[in-house]
Amino acid sequence: MERSWEILEQACACCTKCALAQGRHHVVLGRGSRTAKILFVGEGPGEQEDLQGRAFVGPAGQLLDRMLAAVGLSDETVYIANIVKCRPPHNRDPLPEEQAACMNYLRYQFLLLRPKMVVCLGRIAAQALIDPGFRITREHGVFLEKKGVLFTATFHPSALLRDESKKVLAWEDLKAIRQHIDAWKGEQ
Ligand code: URA
Repeated sequence: MERSWEILEQACACCTKCALAQGRHHVVLGRGSRTAKILFVGEGPGEQEDLQGRAFVGPAGQLLDRMLAAVGLSDETVYIANIVKCRPPHNRDPLPEEQAACMNYLRYQFLLLRPKMVVCLGRIAAQALIDPGFRITREHGVFLEKKGVLFTATFHPSALLRDESKKVLAWEDLKAIRQHIDAWKGEQ
């Protein structure tokens, strides 16, 4: 069967695969360009995202947009998704079983986009997509190729809001991401 964003949207809209479905206002699929080759992956919707049905629209999302803009990116050039599509209560970390229940939706997004690079925002995404033992403080900014796709991780924008001193590290990560994109452009 052919894959499409519409099929994914319909499947997510009525999803009850985990308990997060009970408390949600909206399923938050993601936002951005559906032809993007760069996929950013956060953790899960927060309060504003749950209310508005759009990914990264709260304070962390606004910071993310400013960081993307600083390296010439935006949601017109990247796609931004989350590990879980429904808000965990009180913004707690999504549980392993919630992540597992939701992972096929992210896989589906991955198959639709066929990204060249996946940028994990924070520990939860990096542990789910790169390595279960991933340590964000030690391993942010490292690039690793899996089946022709480049994976990397940087700090979650919420962590940067809590600890401004990490912003300089995230900035270096974003510049390195930008350099990879520029190198691809040079190859074309
Ligand atoms: N934090 C996330 O990880 N994702 C969002 O969409 C918003 C905040």
